[in-house]
Amino acid sequence: MDSVSNLLESIEGVGRDTVRGGYSRPVFSPAELDLRSWFEQEARRRGLDIETDRNGILWAWWDVDGADRNDGGTRDGALVTGSHLDSVPGGGAFDGPLGVAAALAAVDLLKERGVQPQRALAVTVFPEEEGSRFGVACLGSRLLTGAIDPDTARNLKDPDGVTFAEAARANGLDPAHLGRDDEALRRIGDFVELHVEQGRGLIDLDSAIAVGTSIIGHGRWKLTISGQGNHAGTTLMEDRADPMVAAAQVILAIRKTAAATPEARATVGRLQPIPGGTNVIASRVELWIDIRHPDDATTASLVESIHGQAQKAAAFEGCTAALTRESVSGTVTFDGELQRQLQLAIPGAPGLPTGAGHDAGILAAHAPSAMLYVRNPTGISHSPEEHVENDDADYGAVALADALERLL
Ligand code: GLV
Ligand code: MN
Ligand code: MN
Ligand code: MN
Repeated sequence: MDSVSNLLESIEGVGRDTVRGGYSRPVFSPAELDLRSWFEQEARRRGLDIETDRNGILWAWWDVDGADRNDGGTRDGALVTGSHLDSVPGGGAFDGPLGVAAALAAVDLLKERGVQPQRALAVTVFPEEEGSRFGVACLGSRLLTGAIDPDTARNLKDPDGVTFAEAARANGLDPAHLGRDDEALRRIGDFVELHVEQGRGLIDLDSAIAVGTSIIGHGRWKLTISGQGNHAGTTLMEDRADPMVAAAQVILAIRKTAAATPEARATVGRLQPIPGGTNVIASRVELWIDIRHPDDATTASLVESIHGQAQKAAAFEGCTAALTRESVSGTVTFDGELQRQLQLAIPGAPGLPTGAGHDAGILAAHAPSAMLYVRNPTGISHSPEEHVENDDADYGAVALADALERLL
């Protein structure tokens, strides 16, 4: 078996962010494209057959011995594992790549063990899992499953105004063919995603690995606060309609509201004053709100409350506020039988819910899906400080191989 750390070492120079620290590997950037080529090369080295589907998802196939590749049906109901290679801005080395590298290492291990798959096995790489370029997380799996309207997806824009349709075309996809792909969906018999744990769950449990139980509901909303752009030196304080001041009140209100709601999480991690000059009172502020809660009705009422407070704060400053929804995913409980199989394959692994979103959560509506989490000793993620010890990474690959062997 190639060790997971060796595999990850071979990509450690790709997409380093010298300004933010860590990695910035947005979908279809040179860095992410390099990683996709790396994946294709590693998959071919293992004798896997590579396909890119119409939504830009990579599939590396280990077919059943003697299966006729021209007969598409031989891949129906396959066992599928994998993750993503894109990152948040200034992200860690493991969120995404760990699951891909562990899947490749697990294939090595299964081959070393002489396993002959009784059904096809595929390793997948999903594009734009983080939504850090086009705003919608899990865009690849949402397109595949029809969870996003393809027209909406085509018109998503990155911060430079490039549409997803344009980016897709530039990368060899036909924008007209984006969207629900029943043929690909039929191929997913079961989906297992291994991922770095993104909080302190496994530190608290003192375990190297856990079986995912659920993903809490989450969504993204964009708040636009509009005021009056003006001169910083000539505009008296009482004459201003400054959307930045309203934004500051809104951020404080969001924290207060979430903190008063058990289990809620709400974050403003991105804010854009327009035009954005030191000596300019902004005319508009756009800010993005990430809200999560295990109970979907509570998420909805949090959004309503935050919207109301934003309108009040904006009005107080002589501004207006408008909220638009960018994406929402309800709480997902992973397939009970698949969780049981993973527990049997990895005796003693505890169950663990997560507050992080994953493609497995989107796929769960279409095929039995489950996850494995590997310990992150810093408890920090979406940051350069995210970490996994080499031994834990290799243990994760062995656990994944054990699980896949049981399921094949
Ligand atoms: C993705 O990693 C998310 O949970 O936001
Ligand atoms: Mn991830
Ligand atoms: Mn992530
Ligand atoms: Mn994620």
